[in-house]
Amino acid sequence: MQEKIIQRGAEAVIFMAGKNAIKRRIKKSYRIHELDEKIRKFRTRSEAKLLEKASKIIPVPKVEKIDELKKEIVLDFVAGQKLSDNLGGFSREKQGEICVKIGESIAKLHDSDIIHGDLTTSNMILKNAEVYFIDFGLGFISRKIEDKAVDLHLLKEALEAKHFGNWKILFDDVLKGYKISKDFEKVLKQLEKVEKRGRYKERY
Ligand SMILES: Nc1ncnc2c1ncn2[C@@H]1O[C@H](COP(=O)(O)OP(=O)(O)O)[C@@H](O)[C@H]1O
Ligand SMILES: [Mg+2]
Repeated sequence: MQEKIIQRGAEAVIFMAGKNAIKRRIKKSYRIHELDEKIRKFRTRSEAKLLEKASKIIPVPKVEKIDELKKEIVLDFVAGQKLSDNLGGFSREKQGEICVKIGESIAKLHDSDIIHGDLTTSNMILKNAEVYFIDFGLGFISRKIEDKAVDLHLLKEALEAKHFGNWKILFDDVLKGYKISKDFEKVLKQLEKVEKRGRYKERY
């Protein structure tokens, strides 16, 4: 089947092939060959496992196949609107709805101890009024409140850095959705600590 490159990242190339998106982790020639093979195999497996776990609780692309030899994951192609390109142009009402949904999905992931690790709007696709989370390449399993707070903090920074003059309102909407988490209060308190630490680091 004909393959068309969607994106060439630092770690992986993403192809489109028919109804599929294929994420292939590419060789790093600066690494010793055997080690490089192991790392790419481990990361491919780890991302696929997290996607499969997440698929039981929030919208994510279905994993069709894991190819450990080629170091690739074959996913359903989510034909929708990437939020990094589109969120800024939506009405305030639509932005609100989307951000609340994002918060709810993060709460569900966190209540299952899944840390996404790279919560940015480039890793979210809107399709049929649902927000699909992609790219669990930096994800991991953890029960720690600190890890959950940092996950949220990264999204806040992404909203602030990316565009969105009203990022504060958008992040408040995310927190409205996140309220469904069993650990809402604890994570929010920890988030304040994470942010104080961040400011402290910037100043000294
Ligand atoms: N299942 C998918 N459906 C549609 N587009 C996808 C899918 N997976 C990846 N993409 C596209 O490829 C880009 C890069 O994929 P991603 O998994 O985020 O890789 P990276 O780790 O390089 O950021 C995404 O931002 C998105 O545009
Ligand atoms: Mg990505």
